[in-house]
Amino acid sequence: LLNHHPGLLSKIANYANYYDDKIKLAAEPIVIPGGEAAKNDPTLVDKIHRIIEQVGLCRHSYVLAIGGGAVIDIAGYAAATAHRGIRLIRLPTTVLAQNDSGVGVKNGINAFGKKNFLGTFAPPVAVLNDFDFLSTLCDRDWRGGIAEAVKVALIKDRDFFEFIGDRADDLAKRDSQAMEQLIYRCCQLHLDHIATYGDPFEMGSSRPLDFGHWAAHKLEHLTHYRLRHGEAVAIGMALDCTYSYLTGLLPEADWQQIIKTLKQLGFELYVPELAMDLQNTALKSSIFSGLSEFREHLGGDLAIMLLQKIGEGTEVDRVDISVYKKAISMLQKIEADAVDQFITV
Ligand SMILES: NC(=O)c1ccc[n+]([C@@H]2O[C@H](COP(=O)([O-])OP(=O)(O)OC[C@H]3O[C@@H](n4cnc5c(N)ncnc54)[C@H](O)[C@@H]3O)[C@@H](O)[C@H]2O)c1
Ligand SMILES: [Zn+2]
Repeated sequence: LLNHHPGLLSKIANYANYYDDKIKLAAEPIVIPGGEAAKNDPTLVDKIHRIIEQVGLCRHSYVLAIGGGAVIDIAGYAAATAHRGIRLIRLPTTVLAQNDSGVGVKNGINAFGKKNFLGTFAPPVAVLNDFDFLSTLCDRDWRGGIAEAVKVALIKDRDFFEFIGDRADDLAKRDSQAMEQLIYRCCQLHLDHIATYGDPFEMGSSRPLDFGHWAAHKLEHLTHYRLRHGEAVAIGMALDCTYSYLTGLLPEADWQQIIKTLKQLGFELYVPELAMDLQNTALKSSIFSGLSEFREHLGGDLAIMLLQKIGEGTEVDRVDISVYKKAISMLQKIEADAVDQFITV
């Protein structure tokens, strides 16, 4: 982030100077690396804890986290565990962080090769989305965050999905107005879910916002994080939608519309890691070990969100692996064929 916004640190200093009757910077900003690899490095949390201890931050102080979802997850975890919880303000700078993780209540880092193995639930006191940051994102990070908007649209809001479909070309071409509308609605739906669904701290087994995520989390790991989170979520959703279609739950026209929109947005829907060790699904290298890891991470019974139509999810507690295998080969075929020939709508 700093490479693209080299003046950020002096802007922060100037801002605090200008408002010196309201804000006192307790320390120079701590710069930590961004990206998923940073979440594998436990020394970064330690580094933040040390500064918090050295400058004597109390629970009435604020940690301001500026960056992508990874930096915000790390800083949020450090803030939540110092003094059992220092107040956190998030200033997310990627599409994904602005429309999904920033407005959530979770934070965490990876450990033992497992994503978000260490973490807490801790709502931020404020989230500030500044769209100006988004112009410097690389295309992959611009696109990646759109997957979370597709996710929440698919399970909750058909109109929003139609909007994404209508504006898919503009979004792929980096139209900032379309993106701002997308982020706004996606945030609204996430917030609404957290505030009104009745389970903000995920005590139950049901996790609707994790649609497409059991495979996504596993794929991120299997690809050694070559795939960004959003890219993996797009594949995970394509897989669960195709499974929903093959089991007769999701109408064919809806399925085609979803695949078409994901392709139009520029997502790849198949990577070879999906098909690794399909003959022995108990192996860690098989995508299907992601099912038990997902259950273990969430606790309770297995709950996989599937789709019965665009805008309406439904949860199941068991799945048929042989149908999933068929879904994987269909995605492989879709990627291999010219998609326009395959999709007839
Ligand atoms: N806590 C939650 O509820 C939650 C929810 C969803 C995802 N996440 C986590 O968020 C992470 C992914 O976040 P992400 O997609 O924001 O990616 P990221 O944080 O990995 O950032 C991707 C890259 O973009 C750079 N970057 C950040 N802002 C930039 C900007 N404005 N211009 C140019 N480059 C910029 C970063 O330095 C990094 O190299 C994953 O670890 C995922 O698990 C957390
Ligand atoms: Zn996600």
